[in-house]
Amino acid sequence: MQIERLPPVRTSLKPSNHPYLNGAWTPLHEEVTATDLVVLSGTIPTDIDGVYLRNTENQVHEPLGRFHPFDGDGMIHQIEFKDGKASYRNRFVRTRGFEAEQEAGGSLWGGLADPVQLAKRPGSGAHGFLKDSSSTDVVVHAGKALSTFYQCGEGYRLDPLTLEQEGVAGWVPIDGISAHPKVDEATGELLFFNYSKHAPYLHFGVVGPDNRLKHYQAVETPGPRLPHDMAFSANYAILNDLPVFWDAELLKRNIHVVRKHEGLKSRFALVPRAGGEPIWFEAEPTYVLHWLNAYEEGDEVILDGYFQEDPVPEPHKDALPGFEHMMAFLDQACLKPRLHRWRFNLKTGTTTEQRLDDRTLEFGTFNAKYAGRKYRYVYSTTAEPGWFLFNGFVKSDLETGASTSFTLPKGVFASESPFAPKVGAVDEDDGYLVSFLMDENTGTSECVLLDAKRIEDGPVCRIALPHKICSGTHAVWAGRDVLLPA
Ligand SMILES: [Fe+2]
Repeated sequence: MQIERLPPVRTSLKPSNHPYLNGAWTPLHEEVTATDLVVLSGTIPTDIDGVYLRNTENQVHEPLGRFHPFDGDGMIHQIEFKDGKASYRNRFVRTRGFEAEQEAGGSLWGGLADPVQLAKRPGSGAHGFLKDSSSTDVVVHAGKALSTFYQCGEGYRLDPLTLEQEGVAGWVPIDGISAHPKVDEATGELLFFNYSKHAPYLHFGVVGPDNRLKHYQAVETPGPRLPHDMAFSANYAILNDLPVFWDAELLKRNIHVVRKHEGLKSRFALVPRAGGEPIWFEAEPTYVLHWLNAYEEGDEVILDGYFQEDPVPEPHKDALPGFEHMMAFLDQACLKPRLHRWRFNLKTGTTTEQRLDDRTLEFGTFNAKYAGRKYRYVYSTTAEPGWFLFNGFVKSDLETGASTSFTLPKGVFASESPFAPKVGAVDEDDGYLVSFLMDENTGTSECVLLDAKRIEDGPVCRIALPHKICSGTHAVWAGRDVLLPA
């Protein structure tokens, strides 16, 4: 393995006992380019061609207050596969906030769990007074990687092959974009939303394959809401107004406390993708962090996602003092997300719901070639109880209800693991799940490929990474066809 290291970034972070600044959440500050990666087992298949991009959250400076793992600075890790070979590189996203803190030599903003008064500079996004870390999500659109922040931010573009920084996407509206813009590979469009504390509180937009904004509209809600994700079918974008959002009275005093609003239903806006009045549907109250696919069949629009049984869980009693709420909100075992299906009938205006699996599952993926159309297979992750860490995978066959699974060895944790179709794939599940692991037993990281047809067999190939990465939230696969600009 050949490694080239970049000059070190300026950091002021001190050792601490913070649960999310240690173990698999130990921030990484090193940036490298590595070629001729060492294969630990198996062989790199020749029918995987493209890049896996992983966004992680790496705190660089000593926090001003109570650090939350979603505060860390965005870092994109990339592995490129071509002709049975792999290379790796990682770079911090050079956001305006990252650069300002590099210049200052310390933190300028508090975090999600802090009062807004801690910030030394105005922040951005829905919450305000937060740094736009661009650390939540990453997609590939119009030939470039786009990293985004869950509280809405600017959206940063990087070259998906070199990770060269290209700055803020020019089309981003004044209210920013949320994490989870969606790319429709069939049309080359990127669909996005944003949310804010001022009316109109929610917007939907479309960017064309030429990277130009082609549509932007408000979607009316009765007040500020906290959507995290969206979905789309062939004709509709699906936005949501779920009854878990900031307490309105406290918000008037600029205090951000999330609570469940009893008596309110879940509401879904089916917005025509070309623009127009949304068609609203109601459903049972819940919160959904992540949706899967959506598609149209007869009079219905079908949406899959993870229905949280307990979106505002009781605090963790045994957590470090001050971390009781944070630890519970980061624990899937507390939130109890379940694979779930909503059917919106366009003729009758009614919603029917169906539980698809009673296990705790989240952070799912599917073959993106099937996005917006009928699909069969979902690949979810399983979570380490007590932690925001993934410890295995479940493949669900939505047609038969059957499922298979693979659990990682104790102390080994996965990244979000998108589906990479094989070159020349015929079947929907003809491909690999790609993941970066953090091994707490050895203090190392590796890339694994699982054959999506037989995930229960475990990795078919393991490739050593040059350093141990920090955990994070989202990742994406972009095949060679998607990497080429329109
Ligand atoms: Fe997310």
